[in-house]
Amino acid sequence: MKLRRVLLIGAAVLLADASAGIANAEPTDAERAAQSRELIKGFAQRLQGELKAAMAAGGPERAIPVCHTAAPAITRDKAAEKGWSVGRTALKLRNPANAPDPWERSVLEAFQEQLAQGADPATLERYETTMQNGRRVFRYMKAIPTQKACLTCHGPDVKASLRKQITELYPQDQAVGFQLGELRGAFTIVQPLE
Ligand code: HEC
Repeated sequence: MKLRRVLLIGAAVLLADASAGIANAEPTDAERAAQSRELIKGFAQRLQGELKAAMAAGGPERAIPVCHTAAPAITRDKAAEKGWSVGRTALKLRNPANAPDPWERSVLEAFQEQLAQGADPATLERYETTMQNGRRVFRYMKAIPTQKACLTCHGPDVKASLRKQITELYPQDQAVGFQLGELRGAFTIVQPLE
């Protein structure tokens, strides 16, 4: 079932690529954003599925490795499929390797402001075609709100034994104290254009 969904997404993306090729026109930013949205949907579903299964099997202690190794591995797989870079970032970080660059930071700050003004987190995204290190790239970000399932490891009262396990892996952890609905971070994609 899962595999079929992945294959379907793959086929849809291939078809989209093929039709863009026939028309011999560059995809528009809106089309690239739609592809990014689709990829993130698959990534988020896979991550949440693995997280849920590990939580059910052995509680949050068992689920930490899912976030620690599976999340970066899934982003690597997804990126390798297309030559894109795919990741997660945030203003308050658990893993310093996920730190935002200046564009990502400004987008995260804008998301936070929009949320404070009552925006629906499910609709918060930002994209643009721009230059990065001398290359033309398409960049895309989508907000990740804090959900109930996240509070165990990112909420205001993380259990002491779990907190200990987390700080052993991430001594500089800042990603606790989040309330339901607050901005936890964002997915971020860079698509090289040539
Ligand atoms: C079992 C504990 C656990 C749960 C539950 C959990 N996370 Fe995490 N989260 C982690 C760990 C560990 C990392 C560090 C991952 C890494 O090394 O990239 C992390 C990292 C992140 C990051 C990347 C930015 C950063 O701070 O390094 C985001 C975004 C994030 N989590 C969002 C969520 C969301 C949203 C949920 C709920 C759907 C969630 N997490 C549930 C443990 C958890």
